[in-house]
Amino acid sequence: MAASACFVVGARPNFMKAAPVYRALRELDGSCELLLVHTGQHYDQRMSDVFVEELELPEPDVFLGVGSGTHGEQTAKALLGVEQVLLDHEPRVCVVAGDVNSTLAAALAASKLNIPVAHIEAGLRSFDETMPEEANRRLTDHLSRILFAHSESAVANLVAEGIESQRVHLVGNTMIDSLMRYLPPALAHAPWERFSVEPGSYGLVTLHRPALVDDPDLLGRTVRALETLAVRLPLVFPVHPRTEARLTEAGLDPARLEAARLMLCPPLGYLDFLALQAKAAFVLTDSGGVQEETSALGIRCFTLRDTTERPVTVDLGTNTVLGVDPDAIRAIPDLLADQRTSNREIPLWDGKAGERAAEVLLGFLAREDVFEETRG
Ligand code: UD1
Ligand code: UDP
Repeated sequence: MAASACFVVGARPNFMKAAPVYRALRELDGSCELLLVHTGQHYDQRMSDVFVEELELPEPDVFLGVGSGTHGEQTAKALLGVEQVLLDHEPRVCVVAGDVNSTLAAALAASKLNIPVAHIEAGLRSFDETMPEEANRRLTDHLSRILFAHSESAVANLVAEGIESQRVHLVGNTMIDSLMRYLPPALAHAPWERFSVEPGSYGLVTLHRPALVDDPDLLGRTVRALETLAVRLPLVFPVHPRTEARLTEAGLDPARLEAARLMLCPPLGYLDFLALQAKAAFVLTDSGGVQEETSALGIRCFTLRDTTERPVTVDLGTNTVLGVDPDAIRAIPDLLADQRTSNREIPLWDGKAGERAAEVLLGFLAREDVFEETRG
């Protein structure tokens, strides 16, 4: 029997965005045949399996084992793999999330087979074309029949690019659904105890963008600035595998960087990382998703990038864009002392975005049924 919807995930930030929609479809219509495909863009247990387990997703029906490689190689392998799955299972809709290479590959495979694409987190734009994700975002959006936007500015970006407004659905942020669902059990784990730090008295750091970590000079200066900051406040730094590789290449062996209060560790599971964010004095990051999660949690976020595709986190949330500038890290203690406190609630980041997206998908599938019957 043909699947109703095929969900394609592949990299760490995909799981928390897709899971709420997958779950809501299951709950709203038990007869929906769902297929879960994992491209294997991320494959380490700590970058992949841990999220399937903690976000209570079923084991993927198909694992493509795409792995690492150049952009072309990774995208092409995922394209070929997803195409075969779509040919085998003939889903009625293909659901993709975010802006990673697997997202674009799946959208391309589906659209060439005339399978409608639904894109979770549509409409984000950094307007920085040097970011590999920017091409993935634009192309995926233009290949999609159903576009789920999480904020007004995302809707405006899509409309400005000429995408029909009937295709765009402002449903809110599915990543925040995951956050709201899992925050209570996450806090119960008290992961800060493992780092011997007190809630509210440490900084949390994540860095993985090529613009920063693939530049040995910037990376070295960033590490030195972190060491200086750690003298003021202990820092917990779960290191992304790209960053770990670059630190090692630059002779900055993570094992040797462990100054007393700069605590490097392997990537953390979702629950541990969520709880550490929720109790941090601040978060320093270049992650996209972390800018959103800190805003939802009301935790100050300093973004070590020149742009953000998530302006709502600056306008209504807790985010400050510092620039790709290691020296800006030194200003964090003063910025924290500054009374820029209460962030405002972001419309539709309310834990129900997955349900709203699932209702749109079910409405779409029902309309297609009527269309097929009329045609038949
Ligand atoms: C990818 C996404 C980026 C996203 C990030 C989330 C693209 C273009 N980039 O970047 O948008 O923010 O994921 O984390 O899709 N590696 C491992 N184990 C793994 C995965 C990766 O060791 O499980 C190492 C490999 O050396 C690999 C490198 O990390 O070459 C980069 O992985 P890749 O998936 O190409 O890009 P990310 O930097 O993870
Ligand atoms: N995250 C995690 N463990 C970590 C670092 C991040 O579970 O050690 C989660 C984080 O809470 C968020 C997602 O990973 O839900 C963000 O993914 P990432 O930063 O890799 O990608 P981006 O959002 O930048 O594309």
